[in-house]
Amino acid sequence: MTIGIGIIGAGSISEMHLRAYHEHPEVKLLAICDLNESRAQAKAEKYNIPYTYQDVHELLAREDIDAVSICTWNHSHAQISIAALKAGKHVLVEKPLCTSVEDALALQETVKATGKQLQVGFVRRYASNTRIVRSFIENDDIGPIYYAKASCIRKLGNPGGWFSDKERSGGGPLIDVGVHVIDLCWYLMGRPKVASISGNTYSRLGNRSNIQNLSYYKAADYRADHNDVEDMANALIRFENGASLIVDVSFTLHAKEDELTVKLYGERGGVELEPELTFITEKHNTILNMTPQIDHLSFNFQKGFQDEIYHFIEVCEGRKETLSPVEDGVEMMKILSGIYESSQLGKEIQFQTK
Ligand SMILES: NC(=O)c1ccc[n+]([C@@H]2O[C@H](COP(=O)([O-])OP(=O)(O)OC[C@H]3O[C@@H](n4cnc5c(N)ncnc54)[C@H](O)[C@@H]3O)[C@@H](O)[C@H]2O)c1
Repeated sequence: MTIGIGIIGAGSISEMHLRAYHEHPEVKLLAICDLNESRAQAKAEKYNIPYTYQDVHELLAREDIDAVSICTWNHSHAQISIAALKAGKHVLVEKPLCTSVEDALALQETVKATGKQLQVGFVRRYASNTRIVRSFIENDDIGPIYYAKASCIRKLGNPGGWFSDKERSGGGPLIDVGVHVIDLCWYLMGRPKVASISGNTYSRLGNRSNIQNLSYYKAADYRADHNDVEDMANALIRFENGASLIVDVSFTLHAKEDELTVKLYGERGGVELEPELTFITEKHNTILNMTPQIDHLSFNFQKGFQDEIYHFIEVCEGRKETLSPVEDGVEMMKILSGIYESSQLGKEIQFQTK
């Protein structure tokens, strides 16, 4: 069976999707769409894609397209996903699922109503280091996880463009990179129900476009004159099972180094997933740090996307269930929105216990 694929959004991350689909033996890349015509044309030429569009509805009207990857700005994820599902397509939508809980719930309803598959682009769930940790957890080597801690700190790295335009992004580092590390912890903790959230966001430094002699990633449509997203955010999330998660993320901070850490602590052992997979355990009254012999001790971008997209094709073929269903995207939206709300109110917010 061949799966016909359409790509919506031909910017930076579409390259990862395109590369993986292109290599997949059961996939035919049929069409690509972008508001920016030349961007879509360039990718179409590179990957030998026969049809390009500027209007997503024209792409969705094609009957030979079975599934789409949505790689557009965050605020369009919900609307495009809903249109795609209603057009009978399976959907792989980039993270975050969308920019509000309301949109997330509408999307969940549409998935239910159409019976089509939706996979949220929580790519790190598909990475080999995460899958290894899962197997250790499932085999009870870590024991109940009661504490997790994640940081994704950039000392300088507001990408500008749509990333720093709240209307299109839904927020700053929290919704952009925080979503990855919060989701990873929550997923590995066994997706516990949230009891309360205490969050803080700060916009004290701005985008620091004045800084010289230090390079950083900038969006294709970078502009220094618009920035209304937070510089940094932190949160304490308490779960109904008593476990807790502490997270901090930044686009910019007076920090000495960039930092990416994801750490989980259980009753029988600990795990450092990032920056490098390490298990911490106790044997014969001695504490051990165990490093597995694997190809990628930390997240490998290209391999992670390949694993995610190959899994999505299995889902489209009906051979596997997605590891990142819409329900988890909804829960993540509740957590992200909860952090922003708590920060705005200046106090902890409680979640309804059912
Ligand atoms: N999973 C990851 O690790 C990861 C990494 C980077 C980005 N992302 C996500 O991917 C998405 C895109 O990010 P990016 O860095 O590629 O941004 P980008 O700006 O490089 O590309 C986005 C493209 O979408 C196009 N676009 C926007 N709205 C559209 C619409 N309605 N119809 C057609 N085209 C439209 C834009 O013209 C642009 O070319 C974001 O949601 C981002 O959060 C995920």
